[in-house]
Amino acid sequence: MKEQCKLVAGSSNIELARKVAKIMDMPLMPVDLKKFNDGELYCRILESVRGSDVYILQPTSPDVNDNLMELLIISDALKRSSPYNITAVVPYFGYCRQDKKHKSREPITAKLVANMMMVSGINRLITFDLHAAPVQGFFDIPSDNLEVMPLFADYVVDKKFEDIVVVSPDAGGVPRARALAKELDVPIAIIDKRRPKPNVAEVMHVIGDVEGKTALIVDDIIDTGGSVVAGSEMLLKHGAKEVYVFASHALFSKDAKEKLGNSPIKEVVVTDTISISEEKRFDKLKVMCVDNLLAEAITRTHQGKPMGVVYDDMREKIQQKR
Ligand code: R5P
Repeated sequence: MKEQCKLVAGSSNIELARKVAKIMDMPLMPVDLKKFNDGELYCRILESVRGSDVYILQPTSPDVNDNLMELLIISDALKRSSPYNITAVVPYFGYCRQDKKHKSREPITAKLVANMMMVSGINRLITFDLHAAPVQGFFDIPSDNLEVMPLFADYVVDKKFEDIVVVSPDAGGVPRARALAKELDVPIAIIDKRRPKPNVAEVMHVIGDVEGKTALIVDDIIDTGGSVVAGSEMLLKHGAKEVYVFASHALFSKDAKEKLGNSPIKEVVVTDTISISEEKRFDKLKVMCVDNLLAEAITRTHQGKPMGVVYDDMREKIQQKR
């Protein structure tokens, strides 16, 4: 492809953007990002992007509204500067959990955000472990939803657990639990979770056999930590030997650090799609880096090559270890 590949980062996870740029042996484009006194954001791209294949690295993590607006404003600035293509690389997609109406007169924010991204000029999207895969259908542009399960499976295989059950913390997470169970060739169990109000999780039942097993709860997001902590307590009550938690996106809001740190969970494994400050870290937290996967996805998108072979290679390595 003759169009030059260029990377630009918003401010939401600059560490991850720098790592990706380093792996790709490319600089991040200089960009002037400022906030006016009234809170409005300003952006100017400080080099030409005419005819270039441009990738914006910006998870829309907290502060979700500012980071989303920053992504849209960067895209708008690019769109008006005649690039060949604008791809948004959004490893964590804020507002994605509101992907359907549960009650009348509610919004579908995932669709609203998809529309806003497309209007801003984004014409390709790379995400990572979306809350629900069908959200890709909210976009009328090409999209790639990168997989986390080979990364988690590789980590689990290294742990050499004897008897594993993969647990979904709620009904919505079953496809995710199935995906990890398939990588590991183990059974699944499901927690019946209810939400009496936002950010409050109540565990009702456990469906499946967890007795004497190492239970791996797998979720997309840890927000307040309520779901996985209540789930782990319930699994231990049902006779699980120990509980590990795997989640792609570490929001860690409110008192999540204390809740997770004081819980019976043995280890909390997350990725760095969201920048995790030192204050939010705790002893049993393990952070896996997605820099290589993102760099590979950007390179392959730029070169017009498929991603499937990357996962095939990862899976082959996992098989060799088992
Ligand atoms: C919800 O459907 C998500 O997949 C997560 O389970 C949820 O966001 C976790 O929230 P919290 O950590 O506050 O229980």
